[in-house]
Amino acid sequence: MLLIDLLRSVLDQAPIAVVITDALVERPGPTILYANDAFGRLVGRATCDVIGLTPRFMQGSETRRTVLDQFAAALRAGERFHGFLTNYRADGSRYVAEIDCRPLIDASGRVVNFIAFEREVVRRRGRPAASGTGRFEPVAVSHDVLTNFLPRINLFKS
Ligand SMILES: Cc1cc2nc3c(=O)[nH]c(=O)nc-3n(C[C@H](O)[C@H](O)[C@H](O)COP(=O)(O)O)c2cc1C
Repeated sequence: MLLIDLLRSVLDQAPIAVVITDALVERPGPTILYANDAFGRLVGRATCDVIGLTPRFMQGSETRRTVLDQFAAALRAGERFHGFLTNYRADGSRYVAEIDCRPLIDASGRVVNFIAFEREVVRRRGRPAASGTGRFEPVAVSHDVLTNFLPRINLFKS
């Protein structure tokens, strides 16, 4: 099995939403090149329907511009973005997404793609913790191998 096929089969079945775009940061980019089924479920669309769209399709009136500006700055600098955004599903319902987006870099150091891991979170009840991450918790907690593996490669750690 080719490594690319192996990677695809891992991502296809991953319980966490994964979306890969090209590296064109400015409008109309970036363009979604790959999304797994968990991403389709998260955004309430058929996975094949999101290919070719910009991730901006999830935005709405309560998506915070200040966070989007931080996101755009990180993409332009070729840096990681880790944060929380209000996203909208196809049916108009809204959810808070924790997004861990990283540049994929080729051998010459050029950014060739971005990959984001996304999951729905809810605001923790009670007094908010000091860090951004402490104010939210994941909606679905899964105990499969991949989810246990992700913390070890530092996904979603700030
Ligand atoms: C891989 C990837 C995933 C993204 N996921 C989201 C998302 O879930 N929600 C969102 O509002 N923006 C998302 N974005 C950010 C937007 O595509 C865009 O970069 C952002 O709106 C800032 O750029 P702008 O100021 O030109 O709109 C994502 C970007 C990338 C590269």
